[in-house]
Amino acid sequence: MDTNIRPDNMERITTRALADAFIEEQVAQIRKQVGDQKVLLALSGGVDSSVVAALLIKAVGKQLVCVHVNHGLMRKGESEQVIEVFQKGLDANLIYIDATDRFLDLLAGVEEPERKRKIIGGEFIKVFDEEAKKLDGIAFLAQGTIYPDILESKGVKAHHNVGGLPEDMKMELVEPVKLLYKDEVRVVGEALGLPHGMVYRQPFPGPGLGVRCLGAITRDRLHALREADAILREEFDKSGLAEHVWQYFIAVPDFKSVGVRDGKRYEGWPAIMRAVNTTDAMSATIEEIPYELLHRITDRITHEVEGINRVLYDLTPKPIGTIEWE
Ligand code: XMP
Repeated sequence: MDTNIRPDNMERITTRALADAFIEEQVAQIRKQVGDQKVLLALSGGVDSSVVAALLIKAVGKQLVCVHVNHGLMRKGESEQVIEVFQKGLDANLIYIDATDRFLDLLAGVEEPERKRKIIGGEFIKVFDEEAKKLDGIAFLAQGTIYPDILESKGVKAHHNVGGLPEDMKMELVEPVKLLYKDEVRVVGEALGLPHGMVYRQPFPGPGLGVRCLGAITRDRLHALREADAILREEFDKSGLAEHVWQYFIAVPDFKSVGVRDGKRYEGWPAIMRAVNTTDAMSATIEEIPYELLHRITDRITHEVEGINRVLYDLTPKPIGTIEWE
């Protein structure tokens, strides 16, 4: 049987009991494959790599070495959550690398979106590779490949994702969720005890806030974007919108407009809000947000975030606008 093809009769994992059975089966299989050897995993904190990490920790404990690379383009609190959940909660063997300066120094002055993506993807591989070389006796590389990745392997995600790893890494792959769809990975993640917010989080592009800090990234504008995004997420959580809106975020362009604060001229960047619904990200519609909530978010961002003086809501569906601005 081609191990990359999901059998027609494979039952869809929709319940806790089915997830438990899957976990039990995979734990046995991973133990058989890995034996007493070590496994390496790039743990981004996204749904897929988190579920693979939890599964491997259950199967082989400290034989799994997780590497979390903070490229400085994470959302507020994300790297902290990875450390909290995996190191403190699951006692994982976790190597945390704060590579913020490396990434931001390389990105300084780079305006062109595709070049920014290439720099982020390329540097990620470098950092991960350097770390892997420091470790002895790693025989396996675990990956959070899921079934849609296999189906679309010649499509979009494969080439623009940061998760792509060095091709010359001579390690056997461990891909325990490669036959699962995203909704199944989530059910398995909850059964493994991962936090609901981590397992049901919205999609987040590999290059992170790098594609939302439009044009050449500067630290001050990136900081403003991260803070504004955190406020948006907090308000969506509180209002219940987070549960049903597919993706929502802030983008901050590289220009300023005039404003007034405390009776004085206050130049600042606009924060552009976007909240879209879709099933496949090929087309998307705009979420109708109550005006009251829009006002609250605007009020909070313009008062709490240094450097932002206006908030705009992007009403453009896809097509014609892509979901991201870059
Ligand atoms: P667009 O902007 O093309 O986005 O309408 C469609 C979906 O893909 C995500 N996206 C990315 N994901 N790396 C990723 O892993 C990327 O470079 C990237 N660019 C866009 C986007 O967030 C949306 O969910």
